[in-house]
Amino acid sequence: MKNLASIFVGFIIFDIIVAAPTMSSMTYDSETYDIALEDLDNLYDYDENLSVDQAQVEIGTVLPSIAREMHSPLPEEPEEEASTPKLIDGSSPHEPGVLGPHTHEGLPTCLLCTCLGASVYCDDRELEAVPPLPKQTTHFYSRYNRIKRVNKDDFANLNSLKRIDLTSNFISQIDEDAFRSLPQLQELILRDNQIRQLPELPPTLTFIDISSNRLGRKGIKQEAFKDMVDLHHLYITDNNLDHIPLPLPESLQSLHLQNNNIQEMHEDTFCKMKDYSYVRKTLEDIRLDGNPINLSKTPYAYMCLPRLPVGSLF
Ligand SMILES: *[C@@H]1O[C@H](CO)[C@@H](O)[C@H](O)[C@H]1NC(C)=O
Ligand SMILES: *[C@@H]1O[C@H](CO)[C@@H](O)[C@H](O)[C@H]1NC(C)=O
Repeated sequence: MKNLASIFVGFIIFDIIVAAPTMSSMTYDSETYDIALEDLDNLYDYDENLSVDQAQVEIGTVLPSIAREMHSPLPEEPEEEASTPKLIDGSSPHEPGVLGPHTHEGLPTCLLCTCLGASVYCDDRELEAVPPLPKQTTHFYSRYNRIKRVNKDDFANLNSLKRIDLTSNFISQIDEDAFRSLPQLQELILRDNQIRQLPELPPTLTFIDISSNRLGRKGIKQEAFKDMVDLHHLYITDNNLDHIPLPLPESLQSLHLQNNNIQEMHEDTFCKMKDYSYVRKTLEDIRLDGNPINLSKTPYAYMCLPRLPVGSLF
């Protein structure tokens, strides 16, 4: 098909050269030429049964528009996308239709994944990158995939996004501003990945689960959770963490730090040594089991709590 098209383009060029006096402003930029060729190719795909003679007639009638295109500036989209067949939902890579924006493979996100209302479900689709999401997405689930990296543009401008669940991927790197400016993000689940450094997080978060990663000693910034005034669940189990991240917001109800490397605790970690009347009544669930810490060493550290932390007392 392409060969056939090349032959005809050859004819066209020949015709153009013959007709040169009337088309003297025409340029034969090789890139323009390639794109015109792709257009011809697509043209043929629409009607495979044309005989050579018919095709020639078709080309003749199509020529004026091609000539116009050769005059106009290059289309902005890269060639790869230009050759992608048009999809049934009538959307284009630049104007998302009902099936959402197109992935790099040219498939709209809502064909690759399942979109229900404003939720996008992409569990277990062998994804290697976060697919481009429809602008109105509120919940995004992409568990059990092969995503290695979260880029700063992956969630850009998704102003309605409330929940991101990337459980069980291969994420080792997250751009510093990948989540920072999501104005409504409440729940961030990054369980079971290979994350070494937690990026900056928005203060709107209420639920964070970064269990089973590799945060270690330095993976969490100082005061990382300080401004999250609505944070109620913080799960950071199995990370080789060597300290309890401070300060913990007043709103916190549940803190899971099992199976880390926490060896000691400050007496002010949960309570205020200078204010014995202080009560932290929301923090009911603290798990420190599986850490080399002896909770009996800091008996005053739990005075303000409704319940003792779970962990070794010996
Ligand atoms: C093309 O030809 C095939 C076989 O001759 C026929 O079955 C098919 O319907 C034709 N397609 C068009 C678009 O005419
Ligand atoms: C834990 O701390 C208590 C109180 O300081 C102490 O009596 C006990 O020996 C410690 N246990 C271990 C295993 O260090």
